[in-house]
Amino acid sequence: MQLVNKILLVSLLLVVLPLVLYYYFFPTFRDLFFEQKEITPFSRYAERNILSQEFHLVAPDHLKYNQPSIVSGRTDVVTVTPWLAPVVWEGTFDPVLFDSIYKQKNITIAATVFAVGKYIMFLKEFLETAEKHFFVGFRVHVFVFTDRPNELPQVKMAAGRQLTAYPVPSSKRWQEISARRMEFIQELIEKELHKYADYIFCLDVDSRFHSRWGTESLGGLVAVVHPGYYRADRSEFPYERRPESRAYVAPGEGDFYYCGGAFGGLLQEVHQLAKTCHSNFKADATDGIEAAWQEESHLNRYMWINKPSKVLSPEYLWQDFKNINPEVKIIRFSGVIKNYAAIRPNV
Ligand SMILES: *[C@@H]1O[C@H](CO)[C@@H](O)[C@H](O)[C@H]1NC(C)=O
Repeated sequence: MQLVNKILLVSLLLVVLPLVLYYYFFPTFRDLFFEQKEITPFSRYAERNILSQEFHLVAPDHLKYNQPSIVSGRTDVVTVTPWLAPVVWEGTFDPVLFDSIYKQKNITIAATVFAVGKYIMFLKEFLETAEKHFFVGFRVHVFVFTDRPNELPQVKMAAGRQLTAYPVPSSKRWQEISARRMEFIQELIEKELHKYADYIFCLDVDSRFHSRWGTESLGGLVAVVHPGYYRADRSEFPYERRPESRAYVAPGEGDFYYCGGAFGGLLQEVHQLAKTCHSNFKADATDGIEAAWQEESHLNRYMWINKPSKVLSPEYLWQDFKNINPEVKIIRFSGVIKNYAAIRPNV
């Protein structure tokens, strides 16, 4: 009787064990039985081949523009990073050439701004100046995250350009509004933008355009160097310095200090960024830590690891109160001078 039991047990093991191993080591079977296939919101990219969107630059034949040179050009600024990403300064690109290339791609650019509470008062000027300078001649869809969707200003927009309010709850602390930006950006991309947008820029609403911000700024992952720190030593950058935070950047590390007030790139790149920053922010909050500059700190941490493929000079986000340095030939976008006490729910 005992012998029969043993034989049964051994033969059972001989059958079951290989089956278990088989299912475990063959991923297709494993997926079939143990994991749900992930549904990504980016199926449209497969159709349109987004990689060629970004890398295959086709210029129209017979286009006339100035002869380029590799021995003369800007010498007062650095125009390429150590990982060979371009740094965009006035005089480093040909706007006519750029626009001709991207016109043929039939792209849609989304822009997001947060106009929560009294910040809505900046929206009109932001939109009016965007009409004059931000991707003029291209399809642009501006999304306004706001707790006052009924107070959107009336701004005449050119054909192919539109404005949509995206309601968000109001908040008692501006840090809280700032904290949820990445979450709302991630949500907007997943729910809406993946259907039609190619690129996205996330911008501060309390700013105005002064000159062209166009197709020269397009890239996979795009960051703007902060106007307050672009001449400073990295030890002076206001990174998050507590190792407990997920936004931590160690002393002696960090490339540039990037603005939280302007970043962008290809939709799926910004989706990855927003998702990562949001989840790190939330995990920090669970541990009772808020990074020094909220989402800007998390963005800087992200960009240290995930190098931007295009870096925009401080021309792309200046501050109105700052004196202009000689290497800054043009101000494209700039933060307005504001009285924080009058617009923030807390100081
Ligand atoms: C350009 O894109 C728009 C919106 O995605 C689309 O409706 C239109 O058909 C496209 N045009 C061409 C020529 O592909």
